Amino acid sequence: MFFSEEKLKKEKSWVLTDRQLCDCEMILDGSFKPLNRFMTEQDYNSVINNMRLPDNTLFPIPIILDVNKEFSNTISIGEKIILREKEGFKIAYMTIESIWIPNFNEEAELVYGTKDILHPAINYLYNLGNEVYIGGKIEKIAMPNHYDYRKYRLTPNEVKFKFKKMNWNRIVAFQTRNPLHRAHFEMTIRSMEDFDAKLFLHPVVGMTKAGDVDHFTRVRCYEHIIKKYPRNEALLSLLPLAMRMGGPREALLHAIIRKNYGCTHIIIGRDHAGPGKNKKGNSFYGPYDAQDLLSEHKNEIGIEMVPFEFMVYSPKINKYKTLDEISSGEDYQTISGTELRNILDKGDEIPEWFSYPEVSKELKKTTPPLYKRGFTIFFTGLSGSGKSTIANGLLIKFLEEGSRPVTLLDGDIIRTHLSSELGFSKEHRSLNIQRIGFVASEITKNGGIAICAPIAPYELDRKVNRKLISKVGGFIEVFVNTSLEKCEERDSKGLYKLAREGKIKKFTGISDPYEKPYSPDIIVNSDGSKLPGELVDQIFQNILTMGYIKN
Ligand code: PPS
Repeated sequence: MFFSEEKLKKEKSWVLTDRQLCDCEMILDGSFKPLNRFMTEQDYNSVINNMRLPDNTLFPIPIILDVNKEFSNTISIGEKIILREKEGFKIAYMTIESIWIPNFNEEAELVYGTKDILHPAINYLYNLGNEVYIGGKIEKIAMPNHYDYRKYRLTPNEVKFKFKKMNWNRIVAFQTRNPLHRAHFEMTIRSMEDFDAKLFLHPVVGMTKAGDVDHFTRVRCYEHIIKKYPRNEALLSLLPLAMRMGGPREALLHAIIRKNYGCTHIIIGRDHAGPGKNKKGNSFYGPYDAQDLLSEHKNEIGIEMVPFEFMVYSPKINKYKTLDEISSGEDYQTISGTELRNILDKGDEIPEWFSYPEVSKELKKTTPPLYKRGFTIFFTGLSGSGKSTIANGLLIKFLEEGSRPVTLLDGDIIRTHLSSELGFSKEHRSLNIQRIGFVASEITKNGGIAICAPIAPYELDRKVNRKLISKVGGFIEVFVNTSLEKCEERDSKGLYKLAREGKIKKFTGISDPYEKPYSPDIIVNSDGSKLPGELVDQIFQNILTMGYIKN
């Protein structure tokens, strides 16, 4: 149906978040079939309680549109709204069929079996999502635009068409959010042989788990791997799914999606779609819970599961085996995600038995060793504690060392060039620190060294910066722990005196709090027992030990 521009202007719009945009694309292209709308309250209740849509079809995960109260107060049942992506492009019309306030505790327990916010879906529920759910049918205006890897972004119909054209009848799907290593390759080859099937390599590029290898790097790895399969036996396509890391229920969703893409089989490995460890350090789900849930419903899903044990390398025969094929006392090797990260951090070689050299090269390119990676040194301490002096000294030291470009973001420099309109209220200080964090994160992301030296009196702002910067490189917090007495005694700018006289308001340490860092990476004290040069050397030495500088 077409609407006049005038009418459209009057219609209300909701700007989809990243996750909602992924969900919307999957509903529109038929990946979530039979779901053709954001779930209504009735759909939602049925799915969370029975794992089924009201018509009894299996559907394990609620796909809802969460909006804030302000927006929900402006809409009513029967109304048609526009769903837009962030740039404002119209994606779909949605006819509101249902507006309700969900019970998050109930959803958390029923769908994910936990309320622990270390589970990404629970964290989304309680901390990131909106409080009101709306449901209703959606009609496509235009599919979300993708600028990357267009040739691999195929809809279920396009994939089914390709399968038909190639005369593929038995197709095993492999779902992944990781780069493919040899273990994965062996697993897929074995499945193809055992089931006389072709391979549909179908990695998720929508949203995966925080800390995963970015999808650009992964797709470059898949492009290398796909060439290793026998000619015309494997097809690569990318799935815009926003994963919930929902373990068994999510595995079931993965199976339903691949059935919609025309696959006959799907590989389900150990701890499929696992969300990691809970607060007690235990796994959220058992390693084979996903396989058990799929077995339970095998007659209804419409796609056959290929269950897999963990694949390990047997050096004796230079081949991969599943764990249950390893006889007692037999030697085998694996490399965990943490071990692989350590190898990359140190710049060591990834063993060839573990990964193909082309894949290793891609991984090394995006994750260079620590001594080549960008990082931020974030000083915090009272006014007059010696931050600027030490930061200036460190700047010179890194210029001498010369491995990367280095930038000093001193408190005074920032307040002159970036935050000149800001004062010293809590709100303005936070803004100032987070601006510094943003600039430092850009420098770090591009492989440079950022040295920041503001007071940064609040733990929360420092934490925000740590989170932001750690995603793109190193973050080293240096606490200059000089006592207030000493800073006041020095009073090189005469500001403490003015603060004591009440002529400067909200002065850190006097009339405004300084929250000491919880767990700084380095602590120095410039009470006078050491010369600035000695403190600079101490910090430089610490950074060298951490691995950011090559010896
Ligand atoms: S903050 O809190 O991190 O945003 O502060 P910062 O940007 O580092 O700025 C601190 C410098 O501003 C001067 N100054 C004050 N400091 C603290 N409290 C108040 N009210 C204040 N007013 C001005 C002071 O000289 C600080 O410089 P440094 O280099 O830290 O001595």
